[in-house]
Parts: sequence; structure tokens; C-alpha cells
Amino acid sequence: MSKISMVVLKTRVKTQSDEFITNYHYNKSLSKNIQKILSASQNSRDEKVLLQHRKRGKLLARERIKLLTDKNTPFLEFSQLAAYEKYNNQFPGAGIITGLGVIEGMETIIIANDATVKGGTYVSETIKKHLRAQEIALSNNLPIVYLVDSGGIYLPEQANVYPDSDHFGKIFFNQAKLSAERIPQVALVMGSCTAGGAYIPAMSDESIIVRDTGSIFLAGPPLVKAATGEIVTVEELGGADIHTSISGVADHLAENEQDAILLCRNIFEHINKKQKQFTDRKESVAPLYPIDDIYGIMPANLKKGINMYEIIARLVDASCLQEFKANYGKSIITGFARIMGYNVGIIANNGILFPESTLKATHFIEICCNRNIPMIFLQNIAGFMVGKEYEHKGIAKDGAKMIQAVATANVPKFTIIIGSSSGAGNYAMAGRAYQPNLLFIWPNSKISVMGGEQAAEVLISIKQKNRSTDQLTADETRLKQKILQNFEAESSALYSTSRIWDDGIIDPVDTRKVLAMGISMSLNKPFPEPKTGVYRM
Ligand code: COA
Repeated sequence: MSKISMVVLKTRVKTQSDEFITNYHYNKSLSKNIQKILSASQNSRDEKVLLQHRKRGKLLARERIKLLTDKNTPFLEFSQLAAYEKYNNQFPGAGIITGLGVIEGMETIIIANDATVKGGTYVSETIKKHLRAQEIALSNNLPIVYLVDSGGIYLPEQANVYPDSDHFGKIFFNQAKLSAERIPQVALVMGSCTAGGAYIPAMSDESIIVRDTGSIFLAGPPLVKAATGEIVTVEELGGADIHTSISGVADHLAENEQDAILLCRNIFEHINKKQKQFTDRKESVAPLYPIDDIYGIMPANLKKGINMYEIIARLVDASCLQEFKANYGKSIITGFARIMGYNVGIIANNGILFPESTLKATHFIEICCNRNIPMIFLQNIAGFMVGKEYEHKGIAKDGAKMIQAVATANVPKFTIIIGSSSGAGNYAMAGRAYQPNLLFIWPNSKISVMGGEQAAEVLISIKQKNRSTDQLTADETRLKQKILQNFEAESSALYSTSRIWDDGIIDPVDTRKVLAMGISMSLNKPFPEPKTGVYRM
């Protein structure tokens, strides 16, 4: 007699095979390379700048975060390589650190300017990263702490930073909206807080300012002199004493940074922790197989398919999966599992999307929604099946159902791009536009609308439309080469993360930890009621 049970996934991976070993070295070296780039991004600062920062009695942004968060708790940093290889690499991390930390037992979004990067000023990726962190706070109902130390807009970039809807002004718009949603916001002014930036403490529930180093003003002394002729010092214009005793722009005066951090932790004692969404978490059990096998399973050439069961077996607790519709629509795997004890629905590509696999995924998503179970999308997708047969079957209708279900899901979604992310498959599998609570990418991944070869073929066939021969001209050969180069460069994980199309590149071996932190974070917001029952597709 058969029954629906948690099946322990068996592995067929041959860890001694040449293929496994080659893949292992390739993927491991990609992770090491990311680690190297990360370390350079965090540590490559001009000695003079660091010295000056220290001389002022200031801590570095990461030191501030470490002191602020509870001892022995992890900090999940977002988009660490934002702006990578842009602006001559002068904006490591886009000059801002954002992430999820724990303060007084409360999961909190922390947004910290890095004043050692061009005075903590904002280029467009800085703003995008700041706004994304606010968005994560809103969609997961988390308090925010702003560690402010910034010269505001990076003036040479003002046209890309200042006036548009998702530019600098959106930060304060969001603060107002977050406040209206009763999300607590606390600002610590630990350096300059100039021009529009002055609204960060001004729009927070409570603000703390550090004596001597903290300052808040709409215009600094040079601009005041130019505008009105008034000569005034920083302290007289907007120092800590002025704002805590005369203007009331700040609420608490801190003697130094350590004191400010202590005051902030005191504020958190009275924030009133909220009840989390119920979920039947069990004890965490490690997968049966070593997670670093993933390096050997993921092929260097993503055109080679993988057996996604082998990846799932290394991510879920005890390598157990209760599969849904195991024999139907096999190019997608759907099923229930646990990640560090949390009950989750897994939706994982195991080939391209056919009509049956799309309908199966839609049906499963609806089940997760109706049972209040967070979903994990494991993306390795070249797209939907193309061709006359499938268009006639109405594959676009089936894709539309999946997209509808993903877009309107009432439960948290987490997306990990583990390999390819192409075509409308990216959308149906909870790509960035489908607002997953978090989206991370593995270092080997490639993300582009289609492969470079196909893109080149499409473009060249358009040019050859009215020609009898399909022999390439010299111009077309050059065009093909250029398209191939561009697609190669623009589809890498580093390119994606530099532009904040994701929340960061993660080492595959950290995936379970990252997902568990994300799920825990998402439980701070009660799940809304599902919009429909379950339709059989
Ligand atoms: N736009 C462009 N570049 C800026 C900048 C801004 N708003 N503010 C600072 N920088 C640059 C500086 O030119 C310097 O660049 P460099 O390293 O290539 O020489 C770097 O950032 C660090 O600035 P510096 O003044 O040397 O550091 P500091 O720690 O002594 O002071 C500030 C930092 C932010 C307090 C100070 O630079 C300042 O007051 N800037 C102007 C702030 C302002 O008026 N902003 C209005 C914009 S809305």
C-alpha cells in the first residue's frame, strides 16, 4: 500500500567522478573569489581616511552594527557588492551597509552609512540599497535603526540621484509611510546629516545625536555663508547641544558613540515586541548529505541540466521531501519539507516549464497559500517551452496562471537563483519583480532574458529578413560577437548584484542559514488571508 510520506531523497552523486571533482573545484573557486572581492570591498580604504575617522572618536560602520546588535546573533547583510565595478570602484558596497540584525531580541533592519566611502554620500545604488532595506522592513513588519553619517547626495551624480520617484526623496516618503504602518524607526546621528539627510532623524520616532561628531542641518556653514552671508560653526548651526536643547530635532544626547548605541538599545526595551505569525516549527535536522556536495553537482556549463532532487536533498532537513504530484509535470518539483525546522513549500525547476509543470506549480502555490506555508523557489530555469505545439496548447494561459498565483500569494516567498534565470521563467519562479521577501543568487548563476547565442540569432535573423542568403556579412559577424560579449558580461551574478537585482550573492553552503533567518524574519508580519481557495489546474 502506498501512502504520502516524507521520503528520504536518495543520492546518486558520484563524488569520486572526474565530473564531480571538476565541478567542485570550479564552483568552490567561484565562492572563494566572491569572498576575496567581499573582503576587498569591506577593507580597501585609504589609510588617511581611516585615521581621520578614528581621530574623531568614531567607530567604523560595521563596528557600530556589532555593538548595537545582541551578542552572538548573526547579521544578514544585504547587497554587499552593490555598485561593484562602477564609479571606478570608488563606492564599495555603495557606501552603505544594510541588513537584518537582532536588537534586544527583536529582528531589526539596520541601515548604516559608511563615512569612509566618499563621506557616506549617496550614488544611485546607495539609494536603491537604502530603499530596498526600507521595503524589507515594510514587507516583514520590522523596526529600523538608521546609523547616520553622511554628506547626503554625491553631487557629481545629482542628476541620477536627486529628483526622480525612486531617488533620494523616496527615503523620507518611505519613513512617513513606515511610520503610518506603526513601524518603529530610530536614528543615531553619528556624523554629518546634511541637507535632505537631515530628515532621516527628523522623520524617525526617536533620534539620538552624538556630542561633537553629530550634526544635523539643511545647509552646512559654507552654503549658509554663500546664501545669507551668515558665518556660523557646525556646532552653532546644528550640533548635538543645539538639537537636544534648542531645536528639538533630536531627542537624546549621547556623550560618544558607545553611549549612543546603549541609548538605542534602551529605546528597544520599550518598543513592545509583536506576536509572530504561528508556524509549526520542529527541531532542525541537518540534511543527510554534505551541503558542499553542491559545488560538485552544479555544472560549470549551465546548459547541462542538473537533477534538482540532488540539490533539494542537501538543503532540506533530514533530506526529506513530501512530494506533490511526483509523477506529473516532472520538469518542476513541488513538495513540503523543512528548513531548520520551518515548514516550507519547495518549488524547484527540474527542466524547462511545460504546461503540466506550470499547472502543477500553480496548484501547489495555492495549497501553500491556503495552509499559510512560506514558499521557497529554487530557480534554474531556461524559460517556458516554445514552439507551435505548445502555443496551440495555450502555454501562455498556463504561465499566466502561475504568474497570477505567485504575484498574489499571501505567504512569504524566498527565491534562490541557483543556476540559470531566463525568460518568463524568471517571473513565474518569483523573480525580483514578484516581490519575494528575499532573493539571493549563487556565484555561478546567470541571469538574462535569453542566452547570448539565441539573442544574437534573433537580432541577426531580423537583419536578414529580406535577404535570400543567411551567410553572415562582416558587420553581422561583428554584431554577433558584440552581443555574445555583452550577454556574457551582463548575465553574471556579480553584474546582477552590483545593480541590486538581488539581495546578495551567497555561498551555496550558507543557503539553509540564510533561508532560516529569512523565514524567521517574515513571521513578524501576520500572513493575510488567502484570496482564493485551491483550484485544481
Ligand atoms: N558630494 C560629492 N563629494 C562629496 C560630498 C558630496 N556631497 N561630500 C563629501 N564628498 C567627498 C569629498 O570631496 C571627499 O572626496 P575625496 O576622497 O575624493 O577627496 C570625500 O567625499 C570625503 O570628504 P571629506 O570632506 O574629505 O571628509 P570629511 O569626513 O572631513 O567630511 C562631510 C565629510 C560629508 C561632512 C563633508 O565632506 C561635507 O560637508 N560634505 C558636503 C555635504 C553637503 O553639503 N551635502 C549636500 C548634498 S545634498
